[in-house]
Amino acid sequence: MTGAWSPSSWRNKPIKQVPSYPDAGRVEDVEKILRGYPTLVFAGEAQRLRRELAEVAAGRAFLLQGGDCAESFAEFSADNIRDTFRVLLQMAVVLTFGASCPVVKVGRMAGQFAKPRSSDIETIDGIELPSYRGDMVNGMEFTEESRIPDPERLHRVYNQSAATLNLLRAFAQGGFANLEEINRWTLSFVEDSPEGERFEKLSQRIDECLSFMRACGVTPQSTQQLRETEFYTSHEALLLNYEETLTRKDTITDDRGWYATSAHMVWIGDRTRQLDGAHVEYFRGIHNPIGLKCGPTLDPDELLKLLDVLNPLNDPGRMTLIARMGSDKVRAGLPKLVRAVQREGREVVWSCDPMHGNTLTSSTGYKTRPFDRILDEVRGFFEVHEAEGSYAGGVHVEMTGQDVTECTGGAHRITEHALADRYHTHCDPRLNASQSLELAFLVAEMLQKRRRAPAVELREAS
Ligand code: TRP
Ligand code: MN
Repeated sequence: MTGAWSPSSWRNKPIKQVPSYPDAGRVEDVEKILRGYPTLVFAGEAQRLRRELAEVAAGRAFLLQGGDCAESFAEFSADNIRDTFRVLLQMAVVLTFGASCPVVKVGRMAGQFAKPRSSDIETIDGIELPSYRGDMVNGMEFTEESRIPDPERLHRVYNQSAATLNLLRAFAQGGFANLEEINRWTLSFVEDSPEGERFEKLSQRIDECLSFMRACGVTPQSTQQLRETEFYTSHEALLLNYEETLTRKDTITDDRGWYATSAHMVWIGDRTRQLDGAHVEYFRGIHNPIGLKCGPTLDPDELLKLLDVLNPLNDPGRMTLIARMGSDKVRAGLPKLVRAVQREGREVVWSCDPMHGNTLTSSTGYKTRPFDRILDEVRGFFEVHEAEGSYAGGVHVEMTGQDVTECTGGAHRITEHALADRYHTHCDPRLNASQSLELAFLVAEMLQKRRRAPAVELREAS
């Protein structure tokens, strides 16, 4: 894996999860057009995210990454983007308070359109069709025609990503991220939540802090930091031909490296992380911060080899390891990975994806995730890091700002029978708005506890 790298060198490696387009010529035509399009993000932004993630790796910040499992063409609207963004910001405020450190905010948004599938074929009532691979590839509808991969969809992904990113930038910098407003929404959420009492204290304290600062003359009107935020985008870079067209050489900053400009951060999925595979080849050459999903089958030596290839200079901020073990495997499976990384002195961000290892089929036939298991995986993740002396640096969740019924449980106790009410996901079940905030409050409690623990030790020692 040390040959010359280029944005297209992945084409000489074995690849998984590629759509079989009926007409290769049309794919090439689309790629040619995309190569002429403007970049979606600027290299300097990706570098900035890398520096912020280096702070996470050092234990001085926390990472919140979240959004749709799969964005879709059908659910594309300003309201949807706004609602998801709002919930992410609400979660971020709660976590910032709980951790008492900056929270790096990264959306699974503006590019998260392709899905790896465990099977190439889906069978319903004896009829076999190609699997749905995300709106970037084919249609979800179970018909022969809709399941044919269509390269024109790549254009649409580019356009929707550009429009989404534009709105997110406007929201992040245009006043929507005003801390006082965000916390007011959270206060009214707490009022309506059956578990509200538990969360009331924390959001009241945030409110008090803001009132105190206001009394001192520090307000969102006077202070940019209180009304604006940095928000970054990310997705699984699964379709490498799309990524290649937007891989551009940085000609402006001193770095002069190659960047994936489809998003600030991209990650490698658990199904496409083969050492000698196309995805690892592509990722090793780009200078963005990158993620690597770490499932229960990842061997510690394999992980170290992947880190050698993907981050040979051991730069903090380059690698985010996103553990997705499952609540039943995290306590037994994660320590060996953490130990290997610690032993070899690798600088990484450890983030917890408590979604993908906890998917099951309900008795009513829906793919779902029990809230309790999601929470338990996060808890296990924190326990492991505490025991190993490493830093639990973030969470990665599939969520939406809508009031969907896709994951069971939570304060509103969504039952298996209620899943049918508003089950809208194009792929995996997402936390709805209130489940997301609830999770943020519970993680904030864990962060507060962690923050207090060392202080107690010091007191006892003196
Ligand atoms: N600028 C700070 C930050 O981004 C504080 C802040 C302003 C904030 N608006 C926010 C934090 C919304 C979280 C959510 O961290
Ligand atoms: Mn998913």
